[in-house]
Amino acid sequence: MNSSDNDKWAALRGAAPPASELDGDPGAADPESYTGRGEIPQPQPLERHGPARVVAMANQKGGVGKTTTTINLGAALAEYGRKVLLVDFDPQGALSVGFGVNPHTLELTVYNLLMQDDVSIEDVIVKTNVAGLHVLPANIDLSAAEIQLVNEVAREQTLARLLRPVMSEYDFIIIDCQPSLGLLTVNALTAAHGVLVPLECEFFSLRGVALLLDTVDKVRERLNFDLELDGILATMYDSRTTHSRQVLQRVVEAFGDRVYQTVITRTVRFPETTVAGEPITTWAPASSGARAYRQLAREVIAAQDDRR
Ligand SMILES: Nc1ncnc2c1ncn2[C@@H]1O[C@H](COP(=O)(O)OP(=O)(O)OP(=O)(O)O)[C@@H](O)[C@H]1O
Ligand SMILES: [Mg+2]
Repeated sequence: MNSSDNDKWAALRGAAPPASELDGDPGAADPESYTGRGEIPQPQPLERHGPARVVAMANQKGGVGKTTTTINLGAALAEYGRKVLLVDFDPQGALSVGFGVNPHTLELTVYNLLMQDDVSIEDVIVKTNVAGLHVLPANIDLSAAEIQLVNEVAREQTLARLLRPVMSEYDFIIIDCQPSLGLLTVNALTAAHGVLVPLECEFFSLRGVALLLDTVDKVRERLNFDLELDGILATMYDSRTTHSRQVLQRVVEAFGDRVYQTVITRTVRFPETTVAGEPITTWAPASSGARAYRQLAREVIAAQDDRR
């Protein structure tokens, strides 16, 4: 993120557009007419796995699709033969619940890993029903970690240190952050190579992103020099509203090709999957939501192939 990006963001933060713009051409309904740039290659099978690209799924605004994206991007990456570990780093445990795990009955969670030297990451990882997709679960215990970690040496690096033993086993490790910019999220950003920001297609959600990007800049300057902004994912897009289209247009103006071509549309199929306790890619494999997350997975794999 350079300073001219910040200027653009400063301009964007001014919430709703002038009324004159609201009367203007609402633009196309197809979201990819804003984000589309070209064909996304089909992933090639891997001959060997690792080392992992660690991605922090972050936005301090609640309910923007972080957990939904972690679950379904993870499942879609696994469908393409990638080995994936999802880290539930939110005391709400929504990611764990999304795989049908009852977080209250878990004996070991990411909390034990953070706090007890005698617990290893292999002890805590659980398999999901999706082949190649594993989860490091969490529950409400994790809320105490935020306070307890404060007294640790190198407190911001704790998660990075704990993930190290399994880096060579996975192709992607995705950390589902809680909706805050506190110490747990800073740990996720310190452990990550890249940040993926789900952004709800609402004007108010634009405001918070500037603050998130300031935090990413600070973590990059002080703790994790190589941290990249992997991309902005537009979520909750509603093609019937001009509002959604205008937000998307502005996000693309500000971020250009760092906005994923894939846009996630608002649909009730996602809340359904939480009840089902499985990803949309297996619950409703032919749905538009499943197709969208597969396309996102292809974008994420293509970006990773370009880096190698
Ligand atoms: N594309 C979508 N269309 C409709 N509903 C969605 C979509 N994506 C997610 N949801 C629903 O919106 C709610 C919030 O989504 P999710 O839990 O993924 O957001 P979050 O950013 O992780 O929230 P939190 O900040 O609380 O952790 C959930 O009920 C989820 O099922
Ligand atoms: Mg969540």
